[in-house]
Amino acid sequence: MSVVDRYTLGRTLGSGFSAKVKVGTDPEGNQFALKIFRHDNPQFNQKQFKLLKEEVEATTQMDHRHVVKYYHFMEHATMIKKNGQQVPVAFIAQEMVTGGELFDYVANSGPFEESVCKYYFKQMLQAVHYIHAKGFSHRDLKPENILLDKNFDIKLVDFGFACPLEGRDGSGTNRSVIGTPGYMAPEILQRQPYQGQVVDVFALGVILFILYSGHPPFSMANEEDTYYKLLATNRSDLFWKAHANPTRKPENFYSEHFKDLITCMLQFHPHQRLCIADIVGHPWLSSGGAATPEAVRAEFAHRQEVNKRKALEEEERKRAQRDQVSNAVRRDFQLDGKVYLSAGEDLMESGHASAEIIRLTLKEFEPDSCQTHAFFSTYRPDYLLNQLTTKMREQGQEFEISDQSWKIKFDVSKKIVSGDGDNEQEQESGPFNQEYSQIQVQIMKVRDQDDKYCVSFSRKAGSSILFYDNANKYIDLLELCNNATLDS
Ligand SMILES: Nc1ncnc2c1ncn2[C@@H]1O[C@H](COP(=O)(O)OP(=O)(O)O)[C@@H](O)[C@H]1O
Ligand SMILES: [Mg+2]
Repeated sequence: MSVVDRYTLGRTLGSGFSAKVKVGTDPEGNQFALKIFRHDNPQFNQKQFKLLKEEVEATTQMDHRHVVKYYHFMEHATMIKKNGQQVPVAFIAQEMVTGGELFDYVANSGPFEESVCKYYFKQMLQAVHYIHAKGFSHRDLKPENILLDKNFDIKLVDFGFACPLEGRDGSGTNRSVIGTPGYMAPEILQRQPYQGQVVDVFALGVILFILYSGHPPFSMANEEDTYYKLLATNRSDLFWKAHANPTRKPENFYSEHFKDLITCMLQFHPHQRLCIADIVGHPWLSSGGAATPEAVRAEFAHRQEVNKRKALEEEERKRAQRDQVSNAVRRDFQLDGKVYLSAGEDLMESGHASAEIIRLTLKEFEPDSCQTHAFFSTYRPDYLLNQLTTKMREQGQEFEISDQSWKIKFDVSKKIVSGDGDNEQEQESGPFNQEYSQIQVQIMKVRDQDDKYCVSFSRKAGSSILFYDNANKYIDLLELCNNATLDS
């Protein structure tokens, strides 16, 4: 058993950018959620440490039934691992929330009915209103940070990006480009000063859309986004026409009140958006029709079973793949008559007589470098490259493997249609521009951590939106290889 301070550590509840959240049991048998930050994690630099202090400052002040409760913070503690290794850590002990992320419910058992959306949206509004009244903005509202408790009611977590409403300089505005791209208001993406309350409401609009639709309203709130462009240019009728496409949604899926509320929450100009009081008074909420707690509990007990089953299946798939790879002895990667392997590795088999042998350098991953699109893996570079190129071929994607290091380059392009992007005919004949991006994927070894590799996507040229879309696509397709974090 691993131990931190007076807590015995149990299973992992979740992990994020700089921390892992684990169950911690105290000597009296009470359970807490311990958010643990390793001081020896290179990602945990001065800036992260400052954010942690601010997270603690915000968390300590929260006392609301829909916001996670704080118990205890230690800046310097020692984690003693099962093998006796001692690791310097900081941790926050919080109330343990057992129902899992709202995200998993939508992802595993589908979007929610309008009545259920109303039920949860009201709780979210109460929580966010409370946080604002306490003088903070959250700045990272998304379904991964909204948990359900044992009664399937909401608990908001993760004050990792929380900030005083008056801003760090007292000006009443913020400047840090912080949050998660799909939920960020356009003014943050444009790097303009912004107001914390206002961007929180924007994120709530995106979340409500996701809960009801099962997918996001757009990739990012900028004018290059085919969907957001329509909202930003006052063509919300086309935005809704595209989303209500009859091949995907039943007729009248989106009610007029729902469309109006979302449109008003996701406006381009911050001063044109609704504030929380307006939202509460909006007919979508004020006309009633929210599900009862009993109905929600019955439905979500069932949904939770689905989550559990899917989690077990996922575990099983990962184990099977791990076994498969550890049994394979191959340390090279063959494609189109070429054999790729790391400099210094021996060829495993004879029979490569006719093949061209290319020795690739395995670069070291720099923990300080900014990796926006990367994942970590315990699989070897030859296996990772094999998986990546297989997925690319399945997608009909051409690529070029470097003959120097474990690196691959590919080009993507997309027509940008002006007008209703969902209309096939317009796509054929309408005016369009070509959008283009060149992407590089590099596989690197993580220094001082045996058998851990980083697969990092970077944009070499062209559109950042296309880069995001494609990097995310391949990161999703390689999900099973994504089996490690830097801090474990
Ligand atoms: N109090 C809690 N109880 C149960 N699970 C939690 C709790 N806090 C966080 N988690 C889980 O851990 C994940 C990461 O925690 P979070 O605070 O969001 O960290 P990060 O800042 O790294 O995103 C959450 O998405 C959630 O699944
Ligand atoms: Mg989080």
